[in-house]
Amino acid sequence: MLFTSTEISALEARYRAALINSLSGFKPANLVGTANREGQTNLAIISSVVHLGSHPPLLALIVRPSPVERHTLENILETGCYTINHVSDQFIEAAHQTAARYPREQSEFAATGLGEHWMEGFAAPFVREASIRMGLELREHRQLDINDTHFLIGEIVLAEVPQGHLGEDGSVDICAAGTVALSGLDSYYSTRRLRRMAYAKPDLPPTPLG
Ligand SMILES: Cc1cc2nc3c(=O)[nH]c(=O)nc-3n(C[C@H](O)[C@H](O)[C@H](O)COP(=O)(O)O)c2cc1C
Repeated sequence: MLFTSTEISALEARYRAALINSLSGFKPANLVGTANREGQTNLAIISSVVHLGSHPPLLALIVRPSPVERHTLENILETGCYTINHVSDQFIEAAHQTAARYPREQSEFAATGLGEHWMEGFAAPFVREASIRMGLELREHRQLDINDTHFLIGEIVLAEVPQGHLGEDGSVDICAAGTVALSGLDSYYSTRRLRRMAYAKPDLPPTPLG
């Protein structure tokens, strides 16, 4: 099946969303935790987290424009901080349910049964059940001209990783930690490492490690 630009534009909206959302490949499954200045918490599943750089350690995420309220966006802009928590196979259902449009005064933590975990001096809640979690401070916010989405760039100021899944070289075995992957807006996958490869150099053949 080949879709041209004209055909993509003419697709029924839900069909087009499902198709296009599948095309970027596997995406990370993360829960973004926030609170407003009064301490009202919010939790939302977000699949658009991308790595921007390691030094400084930056992650970006995309919040869609919408006529409806966007609590995550509002809280991040209000407090300048938020958490990113890996979704693991232990709590996929609750994580997915955070996408439901709860009213502002109802926290997705309470609604889904996921627990709040607070760290001293950090004004956004982490997810108690998540084993890999980060605290971020907002560094840049741009609303993109092309489709009005919000591009939020944050610096990782706290990173928590289980000791047993942290390699000697600093890499994290997110597969062993139970982190799941996402396709589209509804399909969750477990992962299996197939290979680990040495740093690629023009004068060396591809070299598997270990
Ligand atoms: C699997 C999945 C991935 C999602 N990824 C994003 C995303 O990357 N950006 C976004 O703005 N919304 C995303 N959403 C939708 C939000 O989770 C949803 O709009 C949520 O209600 C936002 O909550 P809030 O208004 O409390 O911030 C995703 C939903 C699902 C089910």
